[in-house]
Amino acid sequence: MDNQKLTAQDLRKRYINFFAKKYNHKEIQGASLIPENDPTVLFTTAGMHPLVPFLMGEPHPEGKRLVDVQKCIRTDDIEEVGDMCHLTFFEMLGNWSLGDYFKEEAIKMSFEFLTGKEEFCLGLDINDISVSCFAGDDDAPKDEESANVWRSLGVFEDRIAFLPKKNNWWGPAGLTGPCGPDTEMFFWTGEGKAPKKFDPDDTKWVEIWNDVFMQYNKTADGKYEPLKQKNVDTGMGLERVLTVMNGAKSPFETELFEDVIKEIRLLGNYSEANENVQKSERIIADHLRASTFILGDKFAVTPSNVDQGYVLRRLIRRAIRHGRKVGIEMDFTRKLAGIFVKKYSDFYTGLLENQEKIFNEIAIEEERFGKTLNNGISVLRKEMQKFEDRKSDGLKIFADNFFFEMFATYGFPIEMIIEELQNEGWIKDKKDSDFVTENFEKFFKEHQNLSRMGADKKFAGGLADHSEESTKLHTATHLLHKALRTVLGTHVEQRGSNITPERLRFDFNYADKMTPEQIKKVEDLVNEQIKNALPVSYQEMTVDEAKAKGSIGLFESKYGEKVKVYTMGDEEKGTVFSREICGGPHVKNTSELKSFKILKEESSSSGIRRIKAVVGI
Ligand code: ALA
Repeated sequence: MDNQKLTAQDLRKRYINFFAKKYNHKEIQGASLIPENDPTVLFTTAGMHPLVPFLMGEPHPEGKRLVDVQKCIRTDDIEEVGDMCHLTFFEMLGNWSLGDYFKEEAIKMSFEFLTGKEEFCLGLDINDISVSCFAGDDDAPKDEESANVWRSLGVFEDRIAFLPKKNNWWGPAGLTGPCGPDTEMFFWTGEGKAPKKFDPDDTKWVEIWNDVFMQYNKTADGKYEPLKQKNVDTGMGLERVLTVMNGAKSPFETELFEDVIKEIRLLGNYSEANENVQKSERIIADHLRASTFILGDKFAVTPSNVDQGYVLRRLIRRAIRHGRKVGIEMDFTRKLAGIFVKKYSDFYTGLLENQEKIFNEIAIEEERFGKTLNNGISVLRKEMQKFEDRKSDGLKIFADNFFFEMFATYGFPIEMIIEELQNEGWIKDKKDSDFVTENFEKFFKEHQNLSRMGADKKFAGGLADHSEESTKLHTATHLLHKALRTVLGTHVEQRGSNITPERLRFDFNYADKMTPEQIKKVEDLVNEQIKNALPVSYQEMTVDEAKAKGSIGLFESKYGEKVKVYTMGDEEKGTVFSREICGGPHVKNTSELKSFKILKEESSSSGIRRIKAVVGI
């Protein structure tokens, strides 16, 4: 490795060029962080997620070999952030074979990219590399094939581990869909020479890349059926590779976070950070980076109490709390978001375009949280006052769920509750603070179980769902989109869509509440297209051709990239009602929808309206 530091942009470029120039992959634009038409997850969690229809066998307009950089968010481990490795937002570099090459070629390419000395490769030492392969079980055999390829490339026998499904299997992204065994690559980050034998439990072996062999479809009854085609889905964590390539201890010490951490120290007015302060710094940096990307996404998400908006709120508020811990009182989220926008806008140009929105929303949420905290403090103080003369009875005098309610109703964090109780002499020792924590956790768990039940309900439908009902609703969404633009004006654009087999949900930018007349007009227009029995067809074309034909949809694709355009209506008969860029699936004829009804028109966030609608009743 040379002394010059590898930057994130260098790494993205090397990866893309390696696969595009050497192995004929087409570069595609990574998808939105907020999944389109997919109710199964709140955020895009992996590169494979937006490509599910193509893994299931639908032809991709760009062909069978693709390469991309995908923004991802995983919030399962949000409480772990603050250590050396956890991140909520990350970038995943991926190369894809859609029914083209399989295990042997995929592994050979991975090995060449990692260890090659030529242009675009990373030049890592084979002595620092270990791999794992799938050990086999009742659903799929042991992956000797992959292991043999690794052996043929010179990977030492002791550096190959066979592990069960828990480790070496990927997918499906929801409960059903494409999945398969994988082979993972690890890099030695410990001091000195790497041990001869690979120990997967030793955290100094850091996983840097995962080649997934997607050849199964997991069905709703838990069976693994062969997919129509054998695919390869790979995921290389950009932050991890950047960290190991630069010999850094964590992603927070790479160029991606350097400037932000510096600014945090300036704002907090300190220069040395102990372990606790560093933990807070990492939380602030990680959470505000994720928030910047969520707010900068092409689909509108603003802080709220539900779904993605709730996650965003939680990220911003947690960052603010940790800001206070390191001595930053006010108005800092906007400033740090600005550093991230600058850092990332060479690759993510949308951030620059959306920067005003990012800065405004983050600043508003910071102000709102400030008020919440003040309200919470006054409620808490009143309650303490009320029981002042019975203080000797201790903490049990407060209503059983009081501490949790302070959090649930006022967003007032438990650490702050404890701090206040301490200041007023209600908490004298560890026993007292444990009492509050345990009481809080009891109610928090109950609440989590309830909301988990809610979250599980989201696991119906999704991109792998090609059920008849969902397909009809996809088509209805196009008709609705066009009808809204006809009735309300062509400045109306889609800002999000979510389809379950039961209903469609469509977000769009429009400042006012729709009048009952406008709603009726939109409904009538859609029903007219259903009655006219318009044929539905698609063509593949470049983005420019699509634009020239007046297609609607989000023109985010790379220049020259091919897209699918769905047409509802017959060009020759002059009955084309809508043309929209979309991956499908759709019905063959609009008459299949039978009828269309808007159930609800409401505000989704500032400047964004939301419609819920059904078909066929
Ligand atoms: N889908 C695989 C992962 O996320 C590559 O690790």
